[in-house]
Amino acid sequence: MRFLFSDDVRRDPYPWYAELRRASPVLRDPRTGTWMVFDYHGVRRALDDHDAFGSDVSAAGYGNLGWFIFFDPPRHTKMRALISRAFTPRTVAGLEPRVREIARGLLDTTAGRDAFDVVGDFAVPLPLMVIAELLGAPADDWSRFRRWSDVILELALTLQGGAEAQHAVAAFTAVRAEMARYLAELLDVRRDAPRDDLLSRLLAAEVDGSRLSDGEILAFFQLLLLAGHETTTNLIGNAVISFAEHPEQLARLRADPTLLPSAVEEVLRYRSPVQAVFRVTRRDVTLGGHAIPARSLVLAMIGSANRDPSRFPAPDAFDVARAPNAHVAFGHGIHFCLGAPLSRLEARVALGELLARTETIALADDQPWEPRAAFHVHGATRLPIHVTP
Ligand code: HEM
Repeated sequence: MRFLFSDDVRRDPYPWYAELRRASPVLRDPRTGTWMVFDYHGVRRALDDHDAFGSDVSAAGYGNLGWFIFFDPPRHTKMRALISRAFTPRTVAGLEPRVREIARGLLDTTAGRDAFDVVGDFAVPLPLMVIAELLGAPADDWSRFRRWSDVILELALTLQGGAEAQHAVAAFTAVRAEMARYLAELLDVRRDAPRDDLLSRLLAAEVDGSRLSDGEILAFFQLLLLAGHETTTNLIGNAVISFAEHPEQLARLRADPTLLPSAVEEVLRYRSPVQAVFRVTRRDVTLGGHAIPARSLVLAMIGSANRDPSRFPAPDAFDVARAPNAHVAFGHGIHFCLGAPLSRLEARVALGELLARTETIALADDQPWEPRAAFHVHGATRLPIHVTP
């Protein structure tokens, strides 16, 4: 699976996926013993059959960080229930005015310029500021959150082994201590004066009759900070890349802005911000004719499933009006992305505001964009663009 870590493949994994779906849709990496599933059918099985494919990666020897995304029922169900009310479509719809205000404020700082970094100046801070406010942390601290998340993201390098893995773990340990100190201060304030935010809610919550420990709240904080922005940042950045590569589709969207929601869905499918989700077999399992032993790490390659021609007609065409579009970019089943309504809202608002302020958008760099450090997410680290205001 080393190929998954190379810059070229992280920038454009799709030709590889196509080849693997044809030749070996279920593949075992001989070096690490990790299994990878590339076809839509197999990916859906791994996501839906949670009795056979669990989420607790510690069963395969990896740290689960105490994040409920890596828990199995019944604990998963209880922990998810604690915060799911903050992310219902209704609650999220109420956030739209604030999301728009933040988006406009950020774009105001680029006003009059004909070039800026649409990732660094816009797609990074927007979701970070929104998730910080939802959690109850000061939005102004967003650049510190980005630094922390970068370190957490690089934990994915541990799958690769070697010196990079050791470095990633050491960096995470340092950042974890820094986050714990930061959060302890916030929690002290909330204990004295609860507010209408997620941290106050977590402080008051009970699971099986007991309060959450500070360590459990820290795990929520880390997960939501990372899940709440890295993905949405990449969704916005990947939309700009896709529009720049397909000017005729951008023109179609500009001519008919009611296509914005389906354009966002198409970016999710075409350049999925999350390329792989992790599973662990809970017993011996047969998939695609392969016998996978219990406690194997399995990567369900949702980015590849979303280009599977057996599921999507003309899967490599970018079509802002594609319907139906039953992609699995947010996963499927009991771990379906809790933040889907929020990230859809953020992407619609961000892209709507960006398009409203620009007549043309083009990638500014002749150089290929630099992909994010981890193979299981897909997006640019920075993305300079030229715009005609
Ligand atoms: C779960 C993708 C935005 C919070 C997931 C999963 C995927 C995903 C694929 C399933 C993981 C699995 O099955 O193992 C995305 C994408 C996003 C996005 C593509 C944006 C484009 C967000 C946002 C938040 C969020 C904005 C929070 C504010 C979560 C949480 C889970 C999750 C908490 C775990 C749910 C569970 O295990 O029950 N996401 N996500 N995500 N996502 Fe997202």
